[in-house]
Amino acid sequence: MTESRAKLSVNPKEGKMRDSEKNKERSRADSASAAELAALRQRIAELEAAVAKRKQAEEQLEVSLRKKVVLLQEIHHRIKNSLQVISSLLDLQSATIQDPQAVQAFRESRDRIKAIALVYDSLYRTQDVARIDMAEYIQSEVSHLFIAYGLDGAVAADVQVDDVSLDVDVAIPCGLIVNELVTNALKYAFPARGSRVNGKENKVCIKLRAKACEIAPADEQCPRSEFTLVVRDNGVGLPTDVDPENPSSLGLQLVDVLAKQIGGTVEVDRSKGTAFKITFAEQSP
Ligand SMILES: Nc1ncnc2c1ncn2[C@@H]1O[C@H](COP(=O)(O)OP(=O)(O)OP(=O)(O)O)[C@@H](O)[C@H]1O
Ligand SMILES: [Mg+2]
Repeated sequence: MTESRAKLSVNPKEGKMRDSEKNKERSRADSASAAELAALRQRIAELEAAVAKRKQAEEQLEVSLRKKVVLLQEIHHRIKNSLQVISSLLDLQSATIQDPQAVQAFRESRDRIKAIALVYDSLYRTQDVARIDMAEYIQSEVSHLFIAYGLDGAVAADVQVDDVSLDVDVAIPCGLIVNELVTNALKYAFPARGSRVNGKENKVCIKLRAKACEIAPADEQCPRSEFTLVVRDNGVGLPTDVDPENPSSLGLQLVDVLAKQIGGTVEVDRSKGTAFKITFAEQSP
């Protein structure tokens, strides 16, 4: 009994040593966590500095982007003004010409330039410096042509354009195609102007429809949109000697070249009046 009691008794020296070791360990742990805390604080300060720097860089980028947008709009404004000056010069020049064919050629050149000027006008007036609101653009282009040909009232315009915007590189060829086809309809489809062809209201219909491509080509990740541009009139129809697939005159040649430029195909329906359908696709923005 005495022996076991002796075994259980703790040597006071040993106890003190253990306490001091424990204290040392505790203070080692304390100083380690203090160092970790300091490192953490340092890291947080570094991160905060990096965030502040990035924010400042972002703000600078935003300011410079805003300046560039304003600059681009100013450039678009100037391009539009220059094109308007060219178109007015053509007008002035045509006033001195007697030959009606030459006058007509000047007039059509003026309208082609006007169609491009409208694109730059649209770019100037909107926040988007690269894409054109097609509904607004085609509507103003068609109204301009109807007024220019004095057919407002004699021929009805039916413009149906989906709410789409197109890149300027596609919008310009598109606008020029509309210009050629609507000009042709106004010039040739209704030779007797006010009087009706086939007893129906004389009409030129311009449609631009968009739909998402069902099957995107395998090599492209982005989905594409497919567009159908139709210019149809219920007039007298194309003369039999005009072959729209192999045109010999500038206007229809331009339609062909511009359609190819946007990767489109042209179909012509001459069963009732004249209808041109151009189908093309564009990578989604
Ligand atoms: N919508 C239409 N209705 C009836 N005839 C048309 C129509 N569009 C074109 N044509 C006929 O097709 C011809 C060819 O048209 P195209 O636009 O190529 O030439 P253009 O209008 O005569 O001259 P330009 O080269 O200045 O456009 C026209 O001369 C006209 O006879
Ligand atoms: Mg023509």
